[in-house]
Amino acid sequence: MQDKIQFEYNGKVVDLPIFKGVKGEQAIDIRQLRNTTGLVTYDPGYKNTGSCQSAITYLDGEAGLLMHRGYSIEDLCENCSFIEVIHLLIFGNLPTTSEKDEFLNEIREKSLVDEDLKGILKSFPKTAHPMCILASLTAGLVAFTPHLGSYTGIDQMRSSIIKLLAAFPILASWTHRKSRGLPLNYANTSLSYVGNIAYMMFRQPHMEYYPNPIEVKALNKLLILHADHEQNCSSSTVRIVGSSHADLFPSIAAGLSALWGKLHGGANQAVIEMLIQIIKDGNNIQKFIDKAKDKKDPFRLMGFGHRVYRNFDPRSKLLKNIAKEVLGQKKNVDPILETAIELEQRALEDEYFISRKLYPNVDFYSGLIYRAMDIPTKMFTVMFALGRLPGWIAQWIEMRQNNEPIGRPRQIYVGHKSRRLK
Ligand code: ACO
Repeated sequence: MQDKIQFEYNGKVVDLPIFKGVKGEQAIDIRQLRNTTGLVTYDPGYKNTGSCQSAITYLDGEAGLLMHRGYSIEDLCENCSFIEVIHLLIFGNLPTTSEKDEFLNEIREKSLVDEDLKGILKSFPKTAHPMCILASLTAGLVAFTPHLGSYTGIDQMRSSIIKLLAAFPILASWTHRKSRGLPLNYANTSLSYVGNIAYMMFRQPHMEYYPNPIEVKALNKLLILHADHEQNCSSSTVRIVGSSHADLFPSIAAGLSALWGKLHGGANQAVIEMLIQIIKDGNNIQKFIDKAKDKKDPFRLMGFGHRVYRNFDPRSKLLKNIAKEVLGQKKNVDPILETAIELEQRALEDEYFISRKLYPNVDFYSGLIYRAMDIPTKMFTVMFALGRLPGWIAQWIEMRQNNEPIGRPRQIYVGHKSRRLK
């Protein structure tokens, strides 16, 4: 097997090394290309560019494989709790029982945020999107914890990581409680990490709250399925912001803004809105499939397609089963589920989607599950963020550990060559 490519341009020759990942992926190292030949590469959207070396997540889009630190997503989803997967992603190993207890206790101890953060929250209109509030509060957390979040090495950063894992569910639940006019509560430290998320979201002030075990189990799996996905848009954002040596918390706030977009984490909200629109329009599913295929129409089937998965998204397979479990316990069938199933079926049989290898992605079913749990549509991307937080932290830390240079792509200038005012 070749270990380099010799590249010649305008009489200048450069050896470009080829290196391999542990799963056999091969990459051309182009770092000397510009120095030697004056050429840069052009790759909008980074469709063909590896931005880093990473030991956190492996995915094979052709085979529909997703693995974290060497474990398959199916294995993790079946046998682990979210808190264990958080530990795995950030610290590299699944915790022993005592490590897990200690980790959880540390999080419980730090489950408080400065009461003045409520002042920032109150200044938002009730109609504000929860993602906008969450990104602001997360950035605001920096002001209240200025001693936390700068890179000092993973062991030294433990208390910053714990603080973020503890504070984030509080801030996320407050965005929901504000929109519902509910009092802003704190953690119930007798519950599991995920049981507590459900408690903080749903507890009514005048009633005891007992988390529904089927829903907590489903929530555990949902959060695991969202926990990391290598160099996606928001994780790349977190890495690139951190590469300027911005602290962890503001880097995460930037990741939240990236996640919000409807081509990324915002798609789970967009899927439900699309299904409602289809039903309101007389449930003419074919009409919407045709719109998605029409190149003159900007409409796309939300929850379909993926930059990397060109076979199927393994997360959506698992999610479909979780959806059946959670929706199965409901007395009435959600008409949106029926429309979703038929839409999926028709798209999977349609030549346009088959030839472009467009399959349902993680967002296609997650929204239906959140809806069945009475989580409002606007909160779906916040739920995604709760799951993705450990991935972002792990990616940020790895980027600093590897001493990556500041992220700064080049461009090809195509504007005016030169102009004069006089
Ligand atoms: N509906 C209709 N056509 C689609 C769709 C879709 N959902 N997705 C891709 N296509 C078509 C494109 O028009 C293009 O067609 P062409 O080759 O005839 O020009 C072809 O499939 C390839 O699509 P690209 O846009 O080049 O694929 P890309 O990798 O850039 O985009 C993306 C991936 C953004 C996810 C895209 O599939 C999409 O917009 N999907 C809908 C939004 C969505 O569900 N996002 C969530 C992704 S998962 C996540 O981020 C958590």
